[in-house]
Amino acid sequence: MSDAASRTDSDPQASRQKRAIPDLFLLQYLPIVPRGIALDLGAGNGRNSLFLAEHGFEVDAFDRDAESVEKLMRVAQERNLPVRAIRNELTTLTILPKRYSLAVIAWVLMFLRRGERDGLVKMAIRGLVPGGFVYLGVFSTQDPGYALCKEKFEEIEERTFFVPKRKMTMHYFLPEEAKALLGGLDLIAFKEGYEMDIGHGDPHHHGRIEVIARLPKE
Ligand SMILES: C[S@@+](CC[C@H](N)C(=O)[O-])C[C@H]1O[C@@H](n2cnc3c(N)ncnc32)[C@H](O)[C@@H]1O
Repeated sequence: MSDAASRTDSDPQASRQKRAIPDLFLLQYLPIVPRGIALDLGAGNGRNSLFLAEHGFEVDAFDRDAESVEKLMRVAQERNLPVRAIRNELTTLTILPKRYSLAVIAWVLMFLRRGERDGLVKMAIRGLVPGGFVYLGVFSTQDPGYALCKEKFEEIEERTFFVPKRKMTMHYFLPEEAKALLGGLDLIAFKEGYEMDIGHGDPHHHGRIEVIARLPKE
């Protein structure tokens, strides 16, 4: 084994960077999601987009961060995967109707205001083909950040705080609120938990809510 290979194998940080794993709850239900075009909103470095493209989907991935979009495009091209990564602000995005068999909205809605969240999710649902799926992942009020925000920052909407240092808002969801966003769809699976995040930076915890829902066929 070369020095470089042995270094990567023994260095968990390096191997995480090499191939980040997708959301496991999504992966668990992927066998029942019809293949087609997937939408990844706030795709980041594209761990879900790349995985989906490796498993039978074409992917339209949107993020406002230029660096993430460039990196995702580069990796997709290197691996010859059908991913279109597009730099776009989600609050001004137009989603084409009836195009997608899967919409992934993973760990991004917390950064939007209430009206923006509702509008984006409604548009993503309109973007589904009949029988298409949504995967939603959001932080819950069990997240340690919620107590911290309550103590330190101004609550500008219910459970939404303005974080001055990062010049952004953070919203923490209740389970019913997350489910209500996907009202009208068939609820396939729901999960609430408290988990260690070892995907970036120092290990830390998050309160998480995940929902998988399906647009009825008729
Ligand atoms: C926590 S990361 C999640 C990335 C990815 N969905 C994942 O699960 O690995 C949130 C991503 O959402 C993007 N984002 C946040 N607010 C956004 C907005 N208003 N418009 C577009 N992208 C946004 C950030 O740039 C970041 O890449």
